[in-house]
Amino acid sequence: MLIGVGLGPGDPELLTLKAVNVLKNSDKVYVPGRMAQELVAPYADSEILEFPMIRDLEALNALWKENADKVAEQARNGTVAFGLIGDPNFFSTFTHLKKVMRRYYPDVEVSTIPGISSITSFAARTDVAVETSFEVSDGSEIGYKIHLKATKPKQIIETLEAEGYREFIFAEKLFSDDEVIIGKKEDIPEKGNYFSIVYGKK
Ligand SMILES: C[S@@+](CC[C@H](N)C(=O)[O-])C[C@H]1O[C@@H](n2cnc3c(N)ncnc32)[C@H](O)[C@@H]1O
Repeated sequence: MLIGVGLGPGDPELLTLKAVNVLKNSDKVYVPGRMAQELVAPYADSEILEFPMIRDLEALNALWKENADKVAEQARNGTVAFGLIGDPNFFSTFTHLKKVMRRYYPDVEVSTIPGISSITSFAARTDVAVETSFEVSDGSEIGYKIHLKATKPKQIIETLEAEGYREFIFAEKLFSDDEVIIGKKEDIPEKGNYFSIVYGKK
């Protein structure tokens, strides 16, 4: 199994208990650089897996494949953790590794543990409160929408479809005993609980 572990924004006290437990109990721990390595150090020895910022797509793909080859063998026989700054699913190296793993090694189970991302860290450190819809951008085109308070999921999906969104997930009470995750549009209910989200992808 391969687990992407969110390490938070850089403060060693901002790792989750779950992240610490996984780091302690993994057979192998990888990180993408020194900052992540330092955060991981109290719990595990780690190896830096190089992911250089090069533009040559062919060279880059070869490197991703090489990294995936290395990780796959170990992840088949045990638990491999990959520690990443912030959250592993937001603008993260882990997303690329996950894609390559799913393509070449679909038998290896891949999961992630959320971390405190730079987005929520920013608000905490600058005393900013976000009270309306907002945009997070790295300069690329908008490709996703996360709709909170999704008490009327079907209605939200209709609006998103008109805006060009094509793939949807409905999620309710995540990480609780009553968790609901529905990825098939036809199965998404008319009504949702207050603790719910509709995700749309273009
Ligand atoms: C490749 S993205 C990684 C984002 C990360 N996965 C997350 O969830 O925050 C790198 C960008 O995240 C932002 N970032 C990450 N950690 C940060 C921090 N501690 N303070 C400010 N910005 C940070 C910066 O904009 C940086 O260029």
